[in-house]
Amino acid sequence: MKRIKRCKIGKTILKNPVIAASGTFGYAKEMARFFDVNLLGGIVTKTVTLNPRKGNKPPRIYDLGFGVLNSIGLENPGLKGFLKEHSKSLMRLSTKIFVSIYGETLKEWAKLITALDKKGFTVFELNFSCPNIKGKVLSSDIKKMASVIKRIRSLTDKTLVAKLSFSPDIKKTALSLEEAGVDALTLINTIPAMALDRNTKKPVLGNVYGGLSGPCIKPVALRAVYEAVSVVSIPVIGCGGIMDYRDVLEFLSIGAKAVEVGTATLIDPLAAKKIVEGLAK
Ligand SMILES: Cc1cc2nc3c(=O)[nH]c(=O)nc-3n(C[C@H](O)[C@H](O)[C@H](O)COP(=O)(O)O)c2cc1C
Repeated sequence: MKRIKRCKIGKTILKNPVIAASGTFGYAKEMARFFDVNLLGGIVTKTVTLNPRKGNKPPRIYDLGFGVLNSIGLENPGLKGFLKEHSKSLMRLSTKIFVSIYGETLKEWAKLITALDKKGFTVFELNFSCPNIKGKVLSSDIKKMASVIKRIRSLTDKTLVAKLSFSPDIKKTALSLEEAGVDALTLINTIPAMALDRNTKKPVLGNVYGGLSGPCIKPVALRAVYEAVSVVSIPVIGCGGIMDYRDVLEFLSIGAKAVEVGTATLIDPLAAKKIVEGLAK
């Protein structure tokens, strides 16, 4: 296969700009049954929290046809479980591993980063934007996000990526987080949403609310990337509704340095691989 241009995110060089998005690629070993995951530029793990989380009550995922609604609620084995069950197999991969993390307090963010840095992980995606945990969407609180970044920056010199939701304040947010010391931005996470069963008029998700992803959010993601790129000099990673390599070319054409592929993998486990191949052609 023809080689694709490498790209640089912070101190990290990716062999190509295609990254598997958090929450849609497990911890990579599940997906390694389908293809050689080292073909990808990077893989973002499911978000890891300090303590294990069971997630929200089912149903937690719903196919709308034009997109997907999910309310997983950050189910994960917690820091200790992650290190015990997944770190060895992730470390063996030659693709870049982005560990996605989320803390409820500055102390939790600090504990997560210190332990993962010590273990040898070199790229961290700070999940500031999960819509599926009550009252905890940080993306709208610029000061809080900046204080988390400053604290983490004081603890590590590794690559830090902030993952945000769409907000009307995207330029201001992007600039403030760049100033706080983050190396890159990922735009966007799922969009807060809900859906009803047309017959029962009841919410389709056990949690009522969920996050919308897939093809229908691509225009929102494109706008967020376009706006952020116009004000910051750090790399922006585009994410939202990328289904094939043509979608990737759209994001790259407006200045994204790399992309993350999420929902497409739920539909076709080989989606990210096909995107890399499409770009190579
Ligand atoms: C089932 C599911 C679980 C997700 N879990 C996470 C997560 O744990 N952390 C995170 O930052 N984003 C999570 N996301 C958001 C995706 O990483 C991505 O930002 C979003 O789905 C938009 O991209 P897409 O349209 O390509 O899916 C999840 C998305 C889905 C569909």
